Amino acid sequence: MENIIEVKNLTKKFGHFTAVDNVSFNIRKKEIFGFLGPNGAGKSTTIRMLTTLLRPTSGDATIASHDVVKKQDQVRKHIGLVAEKIILYDHLTARENLEFFGRLFHLPKDEIKRRSEKWIGKLHMTEWLNAQVGTFSTGMKQRINIVRALLTEPDILFLDEPTLGLDPQTTHMIRGFIRELNNQGVSVLLTTHDMLEAEELSDRIAIIDHGKIAASDTVENLKKRAQKENPTLEDVFLAITGKEIRDVTNGRVATRGHMHGPIRANNRVR
Ligand SMILES: Nc1ncnc2c1ncn2[C@@H]1O[C@H](COP(=O)(O)OP(=O)(O)OP(=O)(O)O)[C@@H](O)[C@H]1O
Ligand SMILES: [Mg+2]
Repeated sequence: MENIIEVKNLTKKFGHFTAVDNVSFNIRKKEIFGFLGPNGAGKSTTIRMLTTLLRPTSGDATIASHDVVKKQDQVRKHIGLVAEKIILYDHLTARENLEFFGRLFHLPKDEIKRRSEKWIGKLHMTEWLNAQVGTFSTGMKQRINIVRALLTEPDILFLDEPTLGLDPQTTHMIRGFIRELNNQGVSVLLTTHDMLEAEELSDRIAIIDHGKIAASDTVENLKKRAQKENPTLEDVFLAITGKEIRDVTNGRVATRGHMHGPIRANNRVR
């Protein structure tokens, strides 16, 4: 099957600290690819490089065969990004926000209107189109944020923790929506700390830890590696990444982490 994303030896250093360390993986067309890892593992940094927001220190990545550094304009035509933080203006209405971002993407006004209304309808937000975003709940804001990412009708959607802080109802709806988009042919890179969500949605999963890919496979195959009967994805994740809490800032590791010793190394599945 054809790859829509190819990542080879991608590395990002912040000063002396290596946040993403020689990462390689491919995402196939029409695949939902779960990109998992502990806090600070390098997921969002990888996404920022793939979405042209951050320049890699070294390595290569292509989106639909376009190099993310040399062909940024082409790359941007293919991608939509739901970033970690909701990017919307509270003092504008949902419609005004979408008009603003649509214009940034150089879309014609009637096209912005058509697309906004289509996606807003699918996410059950039509009633709130002319209400101020500042008055919305987190779940309502996130749905507008997702519409914003879809304005360019991307064939690859990057979702960086899209259901973080949402109630079960909104989470359920958004998961269904992701599946529906994928059924229509949109490839997805999804990060989440919810192991059930990852398992439910992902065709394949990569686990990144300390900037390096620790495992990459289907959920089924990952589970085969765990030395436990009927393992959950959480069992597999903890076996691969260990139980040590990641208190890291810009490469500086909290001393508490060291007190627990090298749990990670001993617990590796491979
Ligand atoms: N601009 C930056 N300058 C310095 N260090 C950074 C910068 N951005 C990220 N980092 C560091 O790089 C590491 C990876 O961060 P990143 O945000 O990619 O992690 P993550 O896997 O997305 O984690 P989380 O699950 O908490 O979102 C962290 O240690 C973080 O402190
Ligand atoms: Mg992150």
